[in-house]
Amino acid sequence: MIDLAMARALHVLGLIHWIGGVFLVTAVLLPAVRRIAEPERRIGWFEAMEGPFSRQAKFSVSLVGLTGFYMTYRLHAWERFLEPGFWWMHAMVLVWLLFTLVLFVAEPWFLHAWFRRHAQADPDGTFARIQRFHWILLTASLLAIAGAVLGTHGGAFWL
Ligand code: HEM
Repeated sequence: MIDLAMARALHVLGLIHWIGGVFLVTAVLLPAVRRIAEPERRIGWFEAMEGPFSRQAKFSVSLVGLTGFYMTYRLHAWERFLEPGFWWMHAMVLVWLLFTLVLFVAEPWFLHAWFRRHAQADPDGTFARIQRFHWILLTASLLAIAGAVLGTHGGAFWL
């Protein structure tokens, strides 16, 4: 059972780094960058701050995925994915899949280039869109966390 407890601890530590970082970028860094007067300096600042986090997040997102699938295997919990009552299991995997796609596929392949192109042409609109996108991802992540904690510890009283 110690392996299960270790997997759970690593799962939560990975989440703290990953979702905590997303919270900081969304609620603090992006609004701060948008307040910089010269639009042409905003891209540089944003990339200097989010770049290192995005590299670190590749590690924490992978850790959360590995420990999550390991716990599912150890708990023999695959059938949960067939039951609507375990919506929070679906929510976890969905959030993980979204970030994995953004970090490992979209960002290196086209998102980075799209951001640079649009941020030069329309800095205000582009940063507003990026901030909206971050709030949506953050809200979904927080809902998944709340659902998983309530579901895991018997607090999902409405089901
Ligand atoms: C591949 C993706 C993931 C899988 C397969 C997965 C699977 C699991 C499993 C099996 C558990 C233990 C449930 C139990 O003890 O009954 C768990 C716990 C948890 N997961 Fe995930 N998870 C994944 C990603 C995520 C993500 C993306 C989040 C948050 C955004 C998340 C948040 C949590 C939380 C908060 C707990 C409860 C920890 C506790 O209080 O014990 N997980 N996860």
